[in-house]
Amino acid sequence: MRGGVLIAPVALIGCSGPLSTLQPGGATATEIAWLWWVMLAGAVALTMMMVVLIAMAFGAPRDTGARVWTHGMGLAFSLVVLSATLGAGLWVGERILPRDDGAVEVRARAFQWGWRFTHTDSDGNPVETDGLLHIPAGQPVDVLITSEDVIHSFWVPRLAGKLDAIPGRTNRARISADAPGTYAGLCAEFCGLGHARMRFDVQAHDTWPPALPDESEAP
Ligand code: CUA
Repeated sequence: MRGGVLIAPVALIGCSGPLSTLQPGGATATEIAWLWWVMLAGAVALTMMMVVLIAMAFGAPRDTGARVWTHGMGLAFSLVVLSATLGAGLWVGERILPRDDGAVEVRARAFQWGWRFTHTDSDGNPVETDGLLHIPAGQPVDVLITSEDVIHSFWVPRLAGKLDAIPGRTNRARISADAPGTYAGLCAEFCGLGHARMRFDVQAHDTWPPALPDESEAP
């Protein structure tokens, strides 16, 4: 018990910060964070059952019907917990899918080792940015993700789950940021020696398309 009290603050340090899935900054990430807590609750419930079983195995013999364990705990309890977590997973999985609702589209191209992003300016022209993805705040955004070489993975933990960037293919990820600001992103698939440096930022803007004095100018 004392060990748990000592370890808890250390473990919880990992639960906040710019790359925390438990500090969601938008609707998609909030769904995923909620699923995370459901999965944790299910895992804790099953672990507790195992701990009680092990404790009883080492304790004094007692007169408990075998069916309580085989049918009650082994089947019924486990099935209820597993069905609840599976149901939550299907529910969330369906809700975070991109929909055909006219969401703003931006593009992400991964390469060894960096990210190039494209959004559309007010004149309808594509604007390319390196390592910084611009999106509107307060609305869903679809990121069309691809790769120029090997498989990478696009991940902005506070805005959405991860999605692979695959050469020759375009994957669509729905992300959303409730408030304007900067959100940290990274490559979540080992892609070579520069993998750890494949970081990027997402900037969410109040006004869309954003006015970018420097980056939008032609070289
Ligand atoms: Cu790109 Cu890891």
